Amino acid sequence: MNTFFFALSIAFAILSTSVFALHKPYYRRGHHGPARLNTPRTDSTNPPGKWAAATNRAKGVVSTLSTEDKVALATGIGWQEGPCVGNIAAIPSINFPGLCLQDGPGGVRFADLISVFPAGINAAATFNRNLIRDRALALGAEFKAKGVNVALAPGMNMVRSPRAGRNWEMFGTDPYLAGEGSFETVMGLQANGLQACAKHFINNEQETNRQSSSSNVDDRTTHEIYLHPFLKAVQAGVVSVMCSYNQVDETWACENDHILNGLLKTELGFQGYVTTDWWVNMEKYKTLAANQGLDMVMPGASFYSGNVSYFGPALIDAVNSGQVPSSRLDDMATRILAAFYVQGQDQAYPAVNFDSWNPANGQHVDVRGDHGNLIRKIGAASTVLLKNSRGALPLGDGVKSLALVGSDAGPNPDGPNSCADRSCNIGILGIGWGSGTANFTYLVDPLSAITAKARSIGANVASSLSDYDLVAARNASMGKDAALVFITSDSGEGYLTVEGNPGDRNNLYAWHGGDALVNTVAGVNNNTIVVVHAVGAIIMEAWIDHPNVTAVIHAGLQGQEAGNSLVDILWGDVNPSGRLPYTIAKSPSDYSADIGPNHDVDYTEGLYLDYRWFDKQNISPRFPFGYGLSYTTFAYSGLAINKLGGDDGYEAPTGPGSSLSGWLHDDWIVVTFAVNNIGPVDGTEIPQLYLAPPDSSNSPPKQLRGFDSVFIPRYASSPVRMCLSRYSFAVWNAANQRWEIPRGTYGVRIGASSRDGKLSGSIEI
Ligand SMILES: *[C@@H]1O[C@H](CO)[C@@H](O)[C@H](O)[C@H]1NC(C)=O
Ligand SMILES: *[C@@H]1O[C@H](CO)[C@@H](O)[C@H](O)[C@H]1NC(C)=O
Ligand SMILES: *[C@@H]1O[C@H](CO)[C@@H](O)[C@H](O)[C@H]1NC(C)=O
Ligand SMILES: *[C@@H]1O[C@H](CO)[C@@H](O)[C@H](O)[C@H]1NC(C)=O
Repeated sequence: MNTFFFALSIAFAILSTSVFALHKPYYRRGHHGPARLNTPRTDSTNPPGKWAAATNRAKGVVSTLSTEDKVALATGIGWQEGPCVGNIAAIPSINFPGLCLQDGPGGVRFADLISVFPAGINAAATFNRNLIRDRALALGAEFKAKGVNVALAPGMNMVRSPRAGRNWEMFGTDPYLAGEGSFETVMGLQANGLQACAKHFINNEQETNRQSSSSNVDDRTTHEIYLHPFLKAVQAGVVSVMCSYNQVDETWACENDHILNGLLKTELGFQGYVTTDWWVNMEKYKTLAANQGLDMVMPGASFYSGNVSYFGPALIDAVNSGQVPSSRLDDMATRILAAFYVQGQDQAYPAVNFDSWNPANGQHVDVRGDHGNLIRKIGAASTVLLKNSRGALPLGDGVKSLALVGSDAGPNPDGPNSCADRSCNIGILGIGWGSGTANFTYLVDPLSAITAKARSIGANVASSLSDYDLVAARNASMGKDAALVFITSDSGEGYLTVEGNPGDRNNLYAWHGGDALVNTVAGVNNNTIVVVHAVGAIIMEAWIDHPNVTAVIHAGLQGQEAGNSLVDILWGDVNPSGRLPYTIAKSPSDYSADIGPNHDVDYTEGLYLDYRWFDKQNISPRFPFGYGLSYTTFAYSGLAINKLGGDDGYEAPTGPGSSLSGWLHDDWIVVTFAVNNIGPVDGTEIPQLYLAPPDSSNSPPKQLRGFDSVFIPRYASSPVRMCLSRYSFAVWNAANQRWEIPRGTYGVRIGASSRDGKLSGSIEI
């Protein structure tokens, strides 16, 4: 290209960029309601429910503190300056012992003698509120017993791009499911005094450019999809929230008045405190982010501020010069102490007994209790059976010879913790990588668990643990009653790259040539059972219809008991009831959203995330959201839909805390039906309720608004009751800045997945 044309094309590029900029799509900034310039204070005359006493007490204590002490409450003491990943200094004059903040959603990070739980995405796959709660209770007990004050969990970002690295820490692609996951997890974590920290607020839905990019989301989509899990966390009484690395509409999340003061503290009426994610970047307000609604900076210094803290001495100066009102500093300190008091952490709370940086200095307190049993149970309950032909599963008495093929069947020869923060994919994949992971005290691999089971029933196991030695795979599988092929797909947080995957996955295909491995085994064994350990959806088209692939078990990330959970499913000690918390597509391009490669990550798909998009575009998924098989068969009958109360209008109240109003969330409509187990084995069914709104609402064709997990003995029946609130029907009217209920006829679809309308009815609203 000659210089002239080169210059011309540059000019054209600039011109077209600026022309483009003039026509910013509707989801760009300026669309939000009026900015709230004054940060909402905790309201001692009427803080919601449980906060009243703690907030009043905190106010009294704060009134005795110096500016320096108040600033110290809001400022981490620095990276590796205390035993935890985040530390707030003690203030002896008020008997405040300081705070220990520690990762993460899957287990106590940087500690020994702890449990590694099934990942958040597996918790979601159970579609079982009790199990999600039990997981959080056990996890919370471990954090508390280690002396952690604040668990940096749960993660409640949405699974938007199926390739996003931290999807496995979250609760899937549907806001209602993710919201239930958030609610139960916060309830469980905080039940015995621990502080939970809902993260990452907000729209931190990919690793690529996460510390610079701007997530641009229209106001309605923000409310109906991405804010919802945080609403549920606030409803559950979460005491802290972590603002995210990314920008939201071109303003860093941690100095963003609209999302912190507006959405979180005003609309949701959040009474706790907001901490930064670790070392966040801020460019506009920095120290004055306090005025935008930020309450705490972690871990102290920031990479982006020349390794000094945005708070600390800078905040003292800003208060002394009046740039941050002293009343705002009081409010920050009040929120932080109120969270401490409301959780009762001033009453005999354990002191920190581990050291993240020098494990040998820790007291090695074994905090696991009997959590291994629960982990095994959740591991099995979150396992999704996708295909089961010719009665391949459960394995019967006739199966006397088994082949196990693939590295995921066996252990990592160097131990399960051989790579920092699990940044390798060698041996059984029990959890993904990054700050959301933890050190395995032990990890049960499938080979040892299946070998033990086989021995007990007189069966033989051959294995070939290489992913690439297809000759050995063929040889091991030939002539066996069943061949189990183990394949994986891994991802994690963006500060680590694994096999060329920079946090986000490079693609949605099985790692290590998994497709070739499956096809090789299926070529020689007509009872090939595929086991997938994966962070999310993988594309299975290369072999899913292979006639010799008789069964597919999508196991997700089952945690430390993976092998045992699998044995329970394989031999039918547990009847599978896991359901997909995302759609498995036939092609990556079928999904509505992918990783945004540029500075602006525009959520152009709006409300049409995952199945909402497949439905709207009439795309056939390979396996739909909510799908999963059982070893028995369920029949549904007797749908009844009844309104409980009066109408009382169709517009929600506005003002502080309005998005949590009783009018919006109280039970309004009751849906009942019966589920009959018509098969020969006991089983658990996951009935799901999808609402199909009238066209006038401009909403997706159908949306999940209820589910349950119902255990039903064989040949027995169980009544199911689901309640809908006005919120189930409401849409966010961005112009009016309130929830409104579109009037019209709503379809009510009940079934075993998002594409299974076993029962349908309707209701006039
Ligand atoms: C966790 O595992 C890493 C290796 O990945 C190791 O360096 C570290 O000491 C372990 N931490 C504890 C507390 O055992
Ligand atoms: C083939 O498999 C058998 C066990 O099934 C094993 O004994 C033999 O060593 C294998 N041979 C090769 C070449 O892998
Ligand atoms: C299925 O497996 C049998 C061995 O049991 C093999 O002969 C046949 O070729 C396989 N079918 C396909 C389509 O690979
Ligand atoms: C599978 O292969 C076995 C021999 O390995 C044979 O006995 C059986 O009939 C085959 N089943 C089918 C459904 O092809």
